[in-house]
Amino acid sequence: MVTGRACDPPKPGLIYDLYAGVFRPQLISLALRVDIFTPLAEEPAAAATVASACGCSPAGIGHLLDVLVTMNVLTQRDDGYALASSAATFLVRGRPAYAGDLILAWTGPEIWDSVERAVRTGQPAPFEEYHEQDAWLESYSEWRLANSLSMWQAAVIQPQPDRPRRLLDIACGCAIKSFALAQRDPALHVTCVDTARVLPVARALAERMGLLVQATFVEADLLTASFDANFYDACLLGQITDYLTPAQNQDLFRHVHAALRAGGTLVLDVPMTSAQAAEWTQIVSLLLWTNGGGGTHSFDDYLNWLVQVGFGQVRQVGERWLVAVKPG
Ligand SMILES: C[S@@+](CC[C@H](N)C(=O)[O-])C[C@H]1O[C@@H](n2cnc3c(N)ncnc32)[C@H](O)[C@@H]1O
Repeated sequence: MVTGRACDPPKPGLIYDLYAGVFRPQLISLALRVDIFTPLAEEPAAAATVASACGCSPAGIGHLLDVLVTMNVLTQRDDGYALASSAATFLVRGRPAYAGDLILAWTGPEIWDSVERAVRTGQPAPFEEYHEQDAWLESYSEWRLANSLSMWQAAVIQPQPDRPRRLLDIACGCAIKSFALAQRDPALHVTCVDTARVLPVARALAERMGLLVQATFVEADLLTASFDANFYDACLLGQITDYLTPAQNQDLFRHVHAALRAGGTLVLDVPMTSAQAAEWTQIVSLLLWTNGGGGTHSFDDYLNWLVQVGFGQVRQVGERWLVAVKPG
């Protein structure tokens, strides 16, 4: 008989789950390291051709190619193995939206050594995040458009094509959240702020969406930048306030408050701590704390920081959406 306390029997499935998730990422990492995708970039190829281009064993590459087919990264056809469109877009080194460095970073030892160092010492242990490659992935996330429109609706920022307005998107990434609104509102102008590495991704997305005339791209460090005063109707801080410490958030909110015109709205899109913490939220919080001392903050923390710098009407309008208004 299998032993264990009746009320809480041991669950082998939980233990299997704790390590089995590593298999797929490690195999993609191996495929990137041997660069299995480049020989397939132009046309389908047989296993022997790929093996020769990669300088690997034909038998080994044959196995790896078969695994990648089952993972939907490749397809198998009469004329050989071929890249699925996701692999052709994101996994071929040298292509604009290549995201392989991001995968290699998360599957390699350095980030996890940083986490261990931070856990042992209590000090941040920064690591490279490849924000631009993350932005490329995000810029192809179709579902984001509808989700972002729901966010703007919850924040009561509706398209108003007869009223010119300015939206400041700080740490914009690919800026898809702002562009979703701009696409519905030709009178909306978006100022996209991020680093020099990420802004080309936002520009490329604006071009794909036909929004170049509605967008301006500003390279700036959000920790030191100041913006035109009393100028913007709205500001979006999407998935950035959890990167920041309490003091950095207070500084940023002060700058945003100054940049908004009276009656302007600040929207935060960020996970907030709640009574029932989700596993993913806790993992992200640990990683952000490791990288720069940030972490998931609570609604009450944001409320205090926002009120301190002069915001009013601070409301949570979705699981991860918060709105605040600069009083008139
Ligand atoms: C998780 S992404 C969020 C992107 C987007 N706002 C969204 O909601 O999807 C964080 C972004 O913050 C940018 N970022 C981080 N630190 C920054 C800084 N000090 N100055 C400007 N941008 C920064 C990164 O380049 C990255 O694009």
